[in-house]
Amino acid sequence: MASFKAFSLFSLALLLLLLPLLSAHATNSPNSHDKKSSPFEFLKHLQGCHKGNKTKGIHHLKKYLEQFGYLSYSHSKNHTHANDDDFDELLESAVKTYQLNYHLNASGTLDDKTVSTMMRPRCGVADIINGTNWMRPGKKRHHKSHGSLHTVSHYSFFRGQPKWPPSNSRYHLTYGFVDGTPSEAMNPVAQAFLTWASNTHFTFSQAQGVSNADIKIGFSRGDHGDGHPFDGAGGTLAHAFAPTDGRFHYDGDERWSVGAVSGAFDLETVALHEIGHLLGLGHSEVEGAIMYSSITSGVTKGLHADDIQGIKALYNV
Ligand SMILES: *[C@@H]1O[C@H](CO)[C@@H](O)[C@H](O)[C@H]1NC(C)=O
Ligand SMILES: *[C@@H]1O[C@H](CO)[C@@H](O)[C@H](O)[C@H]1NC(C)=O
Ligand SMILES: *[C@@H]1O[C@H](CO)[C@@H](O)[C@H](O)[C@H]1NC(C)=O
Ligand SMILES: *[C@@H]1O[C@H](CO)[C@@H](O)[C@H](O)[C@H]1NC(C)=O
Ligand SMILES: [Zn+2]
Ligand SMILES: [Zn+2]
Repeated sequence: MASFKAFSLFSLALLLLLLPLLSAHATNSPNSHDKKSSPFEFLKHLQGCHKGNKTKGIHHLKKYLEQFGYLSYSHSKNHTHANDDDFDELLESAVKTYQLNYHLNASGTLDDKTVSTMMRPRCGVADIINGTNWMRPGKKRHHKSHGSLHTVSHYSFFRGQPKWPPSNSRYHLTYGFVDGTPSEAMNPVAQAFLTWASNTHFTFSQAQGVSNADIKIGFSRGDHGDGHPFDGAGGTLAHAFAPTDGRFHYDGDERWSVGAVSGAFDLETVALHEIGHLLGLGHSEVEGAIMYSSITSGVTKGLHADDIQGIKALYNV
């Protein structure tokens, strides 16, 4: 009797030890990496669509433009079209706004350049927050002077311009990594913080534990409970929240790299971008800016004057 009890206790303990290992193995399976097609692949079949088309798959385009802030049927007088394949007037005006933000021909037609721009892997943060602001602080885009175009800053902020308050007149933030963060990611993220620190009035340090850190960095897959599900390999790559939330998530289904590796996304480049959001920057329409919404695989990218001007304008420093 006693030995039987001891045996079941032993097997219970063994089970408890093995269970986390088994489930860890399951979630690390590389299945999602085998899937070659991007979540944005549906756009290819919509090339050439315009107002009046009822092409199968247009509802995916509506979802895409809703996700990135260009379209809101729930805020319109007419809800009925949110899930159908009708290329209506609201969708056309959303496509035009997207085209203006990305310096495309604002025709409202899904031409090949619009499709290829929309298909680029990108940050999950919307370009337009709550459908009210454009991807830029003011209406000014270009000033025409003496016949030549010269561009103005194209950085943007979140709605209401949330930012971190100073603490003892210092802008110091701590960061930490949630459990399960791959150790390869930690140094690239630390480097990205150093880059922001050397170009702004912020300083950063790694917190002792993640629970008290201002900024919490982790890897997540699919729907991970913050209302902004990831979508497997390709599509959205990462996201971060406006001040003073502090959450920064990499999509764990992407191929990540340290430095420029063909077919993989550079951890440090993406960290530079997401830290920009954590500090209060929205997306920039300047393609060279780190705050540009899309991120190319196989390359690295640094801060741009536009990014630094954005932080200086937001914090008035
Ligand atoms: C869109 O509608 C036009 C007619 O207005 C049609 O000729 C065209 O083939 C349609 N395009 C697509 C991609 O469905
Ligand atoms: C709403 O959609 C219906 C169905 O297409 C259309 O008949 C109606 O005119 C629309 N209403 C408004 C206010 O746009
Ligand atoms: C922009 O659209 C106009 C009108 O549809 C067209 O004539 C022009 O060729 C387009 N330009 C580019 C660069 O696609
Ligand atoms: C959008 O507006 C609603 C209320 O109008 C607010 O609760 C929500 O936080 C806003 N979302 C963002 C991302 O600003
Ligand atoms: Zn972003
Ligand atoms: Zn998240």
